[in-house]
Amino acid sequence: MAGAFIEARELRKTYHVGKIEVEALRGISFSVEKGEFVSVVGPSGSGKSTLFYLLGGLTRADGGSVVLDGDDLAKLSDAERTRMRKRKIGFVFQKFNLLPTLDAESNILMAKEISGNGDRDPSHFNRITDLLGLTKRLKHRPSELSGGEQQRVALARALINKPTVVLADEPTGNLDSKNSDIVLKMLRLSNKELGQTVLMITHNPEAAGYGDRIIHMRDGQIVNPEDDPQWVHH
Ligand SMILES: Nc1ncnc2c1ncn2[C@@H]1O[C@H](COP(=O)(O)OP(=O)(O)OP(=O)(O)O)[C@@H](O)[C@H]1O
Ligand SMILES: [Mg+2]
Repeated sequence: MAGAFIEARELRKTYHVGKIEVEALRGISFSVEKGEFVSVVGPSGSGKSTLFYLLGGLTRADGGSVVLDGDDLAKLSDAERTRMRKRKIGFVFQKFNLLPTLDAESNILMAKEISGNGDRDPSHFNRITDLLGLTKRLKHRPSELSGGEQQRVALARALINKPTVVLADEPTGNLDSKNSDIVLKMLRLSNKELGQTVLMITHNPEAAGYGDRIIHMRDGQIVNPEDDPQWVHH
């Protein structure tokens, strides 16, 4: 479809573990419009994280294609793909991936340095850390922060460069309801305010409800919500 901001076409990914092949994605096609907030749900092992890595250009697909804001990821060189990622995508990983030796502030600002974002205006930093309730925790290292605080730091890091796309893999997976609420509201706010396109993986129906639309996955494929047995119960 012309004009889609993210376009996944017939995506396939097979992992090889010794002689065993695991077909993690078995032909996934969908598109996301600019500014949409899409939730992806599905049981454990259905391929959600694999999809996340492929969409972000962190892993190569075995088949099919991902076009992100006009760039066919497979056609970019490694260097171009890295540059595209730094410029356009904010990643939130399930396991935070914070640097243990740096405090919260440096973890967030690090993303700015890496991307070569020369914006010296501290107002965006101040605003997001304030909205995420991190102002009093900026000098703490990850080991001195709760899980919820670490995830909020990881979200601030993802948003600091005002990316056009935010990819989040279970951003509330390990959080209590209060922290989940802060994270989800921040994602929705930046989606609405900055027009960021958000793709969020979750298996929490309440969290999924924050999106404009829900994509259901099972066994490496997209299924209709009626065919998602986990979902019917909610
Ligand atoms: N690096 C890997 N090597 C081999 N198999 C893998 C690898 N990563 C994932 N898999 C397998 O691929 C399938 C999809 O995994 P994936 O992590 O994408 O699922 P998921 O939907 O994110 O699950 P969860 O909800 O538990 O995070 C699973 O069967 C998993 O065992
Ligand atoms: Mg996963």
